[in-house]
Amino acid sequence: MAPGILTAKPGAALKGRIRAPGDKSISHRSLIFGALANGVTEVSGLLEGDDVKRTAAAMQAFGAEVVRLGEGRWRVVGNGGFAEPKDVVDCGNAGTGVRLVMGAAAGFDLSATFTGDSSLRGRPMMRVLRPLGQMGATWLCREGGRLPLTLKGGTLKGLSYRLPEPSAQVKSAVLLAGLHAKGPTEVIEPEATRDHTERMLRAFGAVVDVRDVDGERHILLAPGQTLTGTTIAVPGDPSSAAFPIVAALITPGSEVTVEGVLLNPLRTGLFLTLREMGADLTIENQREEGGELVGDLVARHSALTGVDTPPERAPSMIDEYPILAVAASYAQGPTVMRGLGELMVKESDRLALTAGGLRGCGVVVTRDGDMLTVVGASGGNRPVQGGAQVTTHGDHRIAMSHLVLGLAAVEAVSVDEPGMIATSFPGFVEMMNGLGADIG
Ligand code: S3P
Repeated sequence: MAPGILTAKPGAALKGRIRAPGDKSISHRSLIFGALANGVTEVSGLLEGDDVKRTAAAMQAFGAEVVRLGEGRWRVVGNGGFAEPKDVVDCGNAGTGVRLVMGAAAGFDLSATFTGDSSLRGRPMMRVLRPLGQMGATWLCREGGRLPLTLKGGTLKGLSYRLPEPSAQVKSAVLLAGLHAKGPTEVIEPEATRDHTERMLRAFGAVVDVRDVDGERHILLAPGQTLTGTTIAVPGDPSSAAFPIVAALITPGSEVTVEGVLLNPLRTGLFLTLREMGADLTIENQREEGGELVGDLVARHSALTGVDTPPERAPSMIDEYPILAVAASYAQGPTVMRGLGELMVKESDRLALTAGGLRGCGVVVTRDGDMLTVVGASGGNRPVQGGAQVTTHGDHRIAMSHLVLGLAAVEAVSVDEPGMIATSFPGFVEMMNGLGADIG
């Protein structure tokens, strides 16, 4: 392996059973809620990726006791509130970490300065600062609402906030701030986004009212509620499971089982879409664990056909478009992906990097505003060439997606900045190679 480069070579069928790493969204939340709560929270299955470790350190900085007990097993002892951190809080690459922690911190009488890596420092924070400001928090930030920024919390008032963008991070920041507001807090979602914050509020003893009003989701949190520490088993991350699953679907002769994957319907848009494309993707052993639906996913090599994905499905597969585009590269006919505006403000501009990376690998891709069309390789009649070195701009999902593409291409595919994969999927290379892949 050349330094700073990782290469996926086409080769053998993928076979075996694996367990996806813990869900990133639920992992961040379990630490933040544990720190805000009174008493002890025991977490198992925590994702020990760089993003989540930053949130663990942030919670210590805000005064909680956070201890690693063993692999994926963590204990958080909260004091029912946040204290002022003595130093800058560096959230690394994690948008979820910084935005949720800012929301949680806003309800306390403290100042906190947040920063992150170069990717996070380029991402928009006004989407969170705007509603927090309406509740009474103040801040000083770089041009365009960029990090580093200093947030000053205090006595907040309740707010009814209609999300201008479909973002679970913004929803969560407002709800977390609302926990310590004087009046009720309401978030109105025109499009439903992942509901882990609502579920976790309930798991920690809060009362949250969620109702559908004229097709919109209204989430209401009464003031003056306290959180009590609890036990959380983090399910496997569907956004990480997506990589071995698509790898199995596109690599001839493959059969891979990913155990214990979260099947929350607000997260499973990719699996639905892959099935519409003709994927042999089945769920075994479906069960409920810790208030969430989970199951074992079995993926077998399949002849895929292009489909048209509606914009309203985007929130349920927002992190999966790069890997869906890879699956589409191996399908017969075009796959049209609509409503991808939010993809431009992720860890990188994923719309641009997905289009550019696939084109570099010989795939026909067209972009029209927030719509991406991938013209597949005619179901195997026309090969995907590969043979590129893809620039990832430090984006873990861009890196993993193109490595997966390389496993079934004519020529190997390389990615730069492979160290970033550990933000969400530590052990990705070892796990894929354990299935028979050749990545190194
Ligand atoms: C997340 C929400 C999504 C997603 C991110 C995790 C969360 O971001 O892309 O990876 O845990 O709430 P947005 O809220 O910006 O859509």
